[in-house]
Amino acid sequence: MTQVRTDVRVLGDRYGRVARDLRMSLTDRCNLRCSYCMPAEGLAWLPTEDTLTDAEVVRLLRVAVETLGVHTIRFTGGEPLLRRSLEQIVAAASALRTPDGQAPELSLTTNGIGLDKRAAGLAAAGLTRVNVSLDSLNRERYARIARRDRLPDVLAGLAAADAAGLHPVKVNAVAMRGLNEDDIVPLAAFCLARGYRLRFIEHMPLGPEHAWDRTTMVPATEILAALATRFTLTPAGQRGAAPAEEWLVAASDDHPAGRIGVIASVTRPFCADCDRTRVTADGQIRTCLFARTETDLRGPLRAGASDDELAAIWQGAHHTKAAGHGIDAPGFTQPDRGMSAIGG
Ligand code: 5AD
Ligand code: SF4
Repeated sequence: MTQVRTDVRVLGDRYGRVARDLRMSLTDRCNLRCSYCMPAEGLAWLPTEDTLTDAEVVRLLRVAVETLGVHTIRFTGGEPLLRRSLEQIVAAASALRTPDGQAPELSLTTNGIGLDKRAAGLAAAGLTRVNVSLDSLNRERYARIARRDRLPDVLAGLAAADAAGLHPVKVNAVAMRGLNEDDIVPLAAFCLARGYRLRFIEHMPLGPEHAWDRTTMVPATEILAALATRFTLTPAGQRGAAPAEEWLVAASDDHPAGRIGVIASVTRPFCADCDRTRVTADGQIRTCLFARTETDLRGPLRAGASDDELAAIWQGAHHTKAAGHGIDAPGFTQPDRGMSAIGG
């Protein structure tokens, strides 16, 4: 067992991992209803008073960056663009400095709707990058998966992010059998032609209860086999703490050289290298997407806890982080909250 160092304040755990990448959820609400994430009718949204205010969000970001060694902040949701004050939160986060004087890297995980109007402003506020979710380039299929006919908005958002210099523009796609397997090659061709970094994500057991089934998940091996029918791929090397295994794609007449990633959370879990910590929109620490417990930061925050006390609570939560998500373990149960409520 690795000893947790007490001289340096970091989010360490019993397995020697240190969390430096914070996923901060800004809302549990969303304007899509992706079938793998939510039921058609949506979910019981958090009451406004339970959601962290802008000042509370910024306070927690400050503790994470200035006291706990976090150097990457990923804003997520639900759909974080639904937070009207996102630009102000980003600006406040970009003014933070790590103990060694660095500005944190700030990225946004979004469905892309409305990004066309906000990409330039977000870049000006200090946002570094975006990850846009896009599961199909076929308008009907997109509408079937997301339960909303919004593909043109997403494409406009992607183009605006690119124009605003939010590079590299990353695209996330969840591959699902019988739904969008035929999109694997077209999505790759589309992203390579534009210099976007596409990453396929294996479908994880997180959505509406019982919606996940191992047989409907398209495993990484199949995604790669589909890509290999059209592209020449070579492994890009070590993935480190990054969840995506990356492949270099050779240039062709249709596209320049590029990269494609596969996030094989289910079939090749990367838990041993995980460097993530998560805070939900209502201020609960989650050490893992699949954690069965949460640790409350909002209560102590509103009761007047000091930065030191908040940091100590966060450290205590991380000390108990589980070794892995246990999807393959007997008795695995889905977390009570889905991706939209946890923060992707
Ligand atoms: N499995 C895999 N990926 C998921 N996402 C949402 N729910 C799931 C799931 N059950 C993806 C979204 C988004 C990212 C935050 O996570 O498509 O790209
Ligand atoms: Fe919204 Fe993302 Fe869930 Fe789709 S996956 S419904 S975009 S939160």
